[in-house]
Amino acid sequence: MTSLEIKNINKHYGAVQALHDVSLSINKGEFVTLLGPSGSGKTTVLKILAGFEPVTSGQVLMEGRDVTALPPEKRNFGLVFQGYALFPHMSVYDNIAYPLRVRRQSKAMIDERVLAALDLVQLRKFANRRPQELSGGQQQRVALARALVFKPDVLLLDEPMSALDKQLRHDLQEELREIHRSLGTTFINVTHDQEEAMHMSDRIAIMDHGQIKQYDTAHQLYRRPASRFVAEFVGKSNVFQGEVRGSGSSARFYSASFEMPLADAQTGASTVMIRPEDAEITTTAPNDGRITLPVQVISSTYSGDRALYTLLQSDGADFIAYAPARSGVFPDGTDIFVSFASQDVIALA
Ligand SMILES: Nc1ncnc2c1ncn2[C@@H]1O[C@H](COP(=O)(O)OP(=O)(O)O)[C@@H](O)[C@H]1O
Ligand SMILES: [Mg+2]
Repeated sequence: MTSLEIKNINKHYGAVQALHDVSLSINKGEFVTLLGPSGSGKTTVLKILAGFEPVTSGQVLMEGRDVTALPPEKRNFGLVFQGYALFPHMSVYDNIAYPLRVRRQSKAMIDERVLAALDLVQLRKFANRRPQELSGGQQQRVALARALVFKPDVLLLDEPMSALDKQLRHDLQEELREIHRSLGTTFINVTHDQEEAMHMSDRIAIMDHGQIKQYDTAHQLYRRPASRFVAEFVGKSNVFQGEVRGSGSSARFYSASFEMPLADAQTGASTVMIRPEDAEITTTAPNDGRITLPVQVISSTYSGDRALYTLLQSDGADFIAYAPARSGVFPDGTDIFVSFASQDVIALA
């Protein structure tokens, strides 16, 4: 069931158009991430959802009801925003209790809810500390508890982990997923970190220049990117520019390096992509119908279970490929072959 819907939103800040006809629908209990580079409009979408910024045109619907003009305090949304810092002079307990006190809940109710929220983020033993007596990750968990304590319909998170180091970020991702699972609240998260988005989300909206480029599951975005921007933003890729000639079942893709069938592709300029894990490297050219390119090893990054190679093609372009590395890696400068199956070549719009 659709919980929240953004319909054809345009947003101008003076002369700057921050959002261009953005539409998004989010199901009840879904974990959706807005992923995009800095300045792509992610925070603006969250601020509009929260009610902090008016739209220039378009609508926000909550369970079918138009809430576009509803003030923030009437939306029952939990917020973990940058600049929405903890109150430094209050204890952890009082920080988390604050939204309930504002809502004039009874003392007994406040106590019950705050203790439950502290348990949720595993901070009960820090209830009496001040925020500055906690680590960055613990402070973010307090912010999370404060945003969830009043049982919001939707939780909005604006890069909640961006200030944390990698290990902490990973731990908090796990925790956030667990909390989402246990509560069933709709979560809308913003990040520019594609791994974070892929680890946590039911669906991801890829944003660029104020537009949603694609809205889909991590798997679809990775295997079926709609555009070069999405292909390059989500994971690593090898992109080839070329041309489709012919049409229907006899359409073929031609690039400077190789050609192959590309049934039902649009005739004309075309771009295709191969993921690095779909390529294989061998010392002799395989003779099994795979597309094969002679390459030279430029460099490799060994990570125990495998190696990531950067390879030089004869036309001077790079190609990246993962390969097993049980028996070591090919030294830089080695002439080898990279090959891939035509069914692993992904056509981009
Ligand atoms: N208050 C504002 N006044 C003017 N321009 C703004 C304001 N807030 C954001 N912008 C502009 O809108 C665009 C989108 O910003 P933002 O939503 O913050 O992007 P993101 O969160 O993806 O980094 C950027 O070009 C930014 O400079
Ligand atoms: Mg932002």
